[in-house]
Amino acid sequence: MTFMNQAVNKIKQHRIKTALLTTLVASAFVSSAAIAAGDAAAGKGKSAVCATCHGPTGVAIAPMYPNLAGQNAAYLESSLKAYRKNERKGGMSAVMTPMAASLSDQDIADLAAYFSTQTLGKK
Ligand code: HEC
Repeated sequence: MTFMNQAVNKIKQHRIKTALLTTLVASAFVSSAAIAAGDAAAGKGKSAVCATCHGPTGVAIAPMYPNLAGQNAAYLESSLKAYRKNERKGGMSAVMTPMAASLSDQDIADLAAYFSTQTLGKK
């Protein structure tokens, strides 16, 4: 093998390594996003307790409760985390705070995915 061939091979190997590394880094981002992302089907299973007030599809059973159907998932998540941390005060927060207290980050993501994909029209 000539010196030139060796050099070319080194460059090729380097390119392959770089490509592999890029793929690995990219897939790590994808899978961590998948972990953080909510699962609407799982959220539906966890929403039974919420239905008492917010209705089974997030259309509130009475005007004193907020509708959750179609609300942005990111907003649902941030509001649930704020209740969980006891940071949302006033209004009827005393009713909602204990509901969020035992939810995990995954529960919150799943519930947010479920309610955000519902539509306000149906009960
Ligand atoms: C006993 C009735 C009741 C139950 C059960 C209940 N909530 Fe609530 N929820 C409320 C009330 C009342 C509010 C408004 C509180 C306030 O004024 O801050 C609220 C507010 C919220 C909000 C904020 C809405 C907004 O527009 O800011 C979210 C999100 C929410 N609830 C999600 C849930 C989820 C998810 C569950 C089930 C784990 C649940 N709630 C269970 C009564 C309830």
